[in-house]
Amino acid sequence: MTATVITNIGELVTNDPDADDLLGVIERAALVLEGSTVAWVGPATDAPAADEQLDAGGRAVLPGFVDSHSHLVFAGDRAAEFAARMAGESYATGGIRTTVAATRAATDEQLTSHVARLVAEMRRQGTTTVEIKSGYGLSVHDEARSLAVARQFTEETTFLGAHVVPDGISPEEYVALVTGPMLEACAPHARWIDAFCETGAFDEDQSRAVLEAGASAGLRGRLHANQLGPGPGVRLACELGLTAVDHCTYLEEDDVTALAESGTVATLLPGVEFSTRHPYPDARRLLDAGVRVALASDCNPGSCYTSSLPLCIALAVREMGMTPAEAVHAATAGGAAALDRDDVGVLTPGAQADLVVLDAPTHVHLAYRPGVPLVSATWLAGRPLS
Ligand code: NIG
Ligand code: FE
Repeated sequence: MTATVITNIGELVTNDPDADDLLGVIERAALVLEGSTVAWVGPATDAPAADEQLDAGGRAVLPGFVDSHSHLVFAGDRAAEFAARMAGESYATGGIRTTVAATRAATDEQLTSHVARLVAEMRRQGTTTVEIKSGYGLSVHDEARSLAVARQFTEETTFLGAHVVPDGISPEEYVALVTGPMLEACAPHARWIDAFCETGAFDEDQSRAVLEAGASAGLRGRLHANQLGPGPGVRLACELGLTAVDHCTYLEEDDVTALAESGTVATLLPGVEFSTRHPYPDARRLLDAGVRVALASDCNPGSCYTSSLPLCIALAVREMGMTPAEAVHAATAGGAAALDRDDVGVLTPGAQADLVVLDAPTHVHLAYRPGVPLVSATWLAGRPLS
């Protein structure tokens, strides 16, 4: 197998959990990759010989970003809804139905090429692992085909039939459909199950029923909760031992305690608060309580149409009390924890060789230079993407 050494790395972020610092930074570093995996990391002066050598020119190298929450399978956009919001309207869950109509009307080919465009956009901004949800089909056929489309791009697919109750069916009948025939059709294409536990979407009992049915079908659970106001979702996620609970914008003290005690990852999605003018979640409070935190994009046409984890990192630092190191960790190792993965989000021997090369000397520049396209290369499984 060909070994490649990338040398002259100004700062290598490894996220090595055994390091003294959060990011496991090695300065003036080198990294050796063999095939699709990392074979060695350390000071450049100690680097072993390899078949090929590349010079990083003093740039920073980080683990590829792990975006653990996105809704990329949809058609149409809701730019007019966004503009109305910026003129004073508030965000409402009902907007989801607009996207459902457009998604149902789209062909598989249209959905696939749209996801391909968004995934390419993510790759250019350093994302190497992406979770993709269904949730804009809301019929057995349209949810199953949404997941089949998503599966072409990632193993991390999530069945979100419980996104909102579609028109023409009662909530009771719809939950029965989601937990019955829809789950049966979708489970083969999904690793995860999710529900939107929020006023205007699904209540605690309905969310619990969906998550328990998913678990019986072999799907692991994650939950949208406490996005638009306080509610029972975060505590439900902790009680059920879900891997992650996402949004966590409106938290009470009991929610924070439950998160700290359960180990459920709190995934914060600051692009949503940016795009809905809700207050940002308090990451500092969570970190100080010992909660594991991830940052993700939530890329979707309604509440947040960004695919950029660098933007989320900058917002988390500026608005949510995170240090640059904490935000970078949350967008890499944090995202990996939120997907229960230990092969990504780190650059230690044996990990997948997914890297971001920054046109900057350190990770701090991701927040220090907001809005600047600093990603000069993204490597996926040991290969640079062109
Ligand atoms: O994560 N919260 C639920 N779903 C999406 C928004 C969906 C939409 O408005 O289309 C979210 O914010
Ligand atoms: Fe979401």
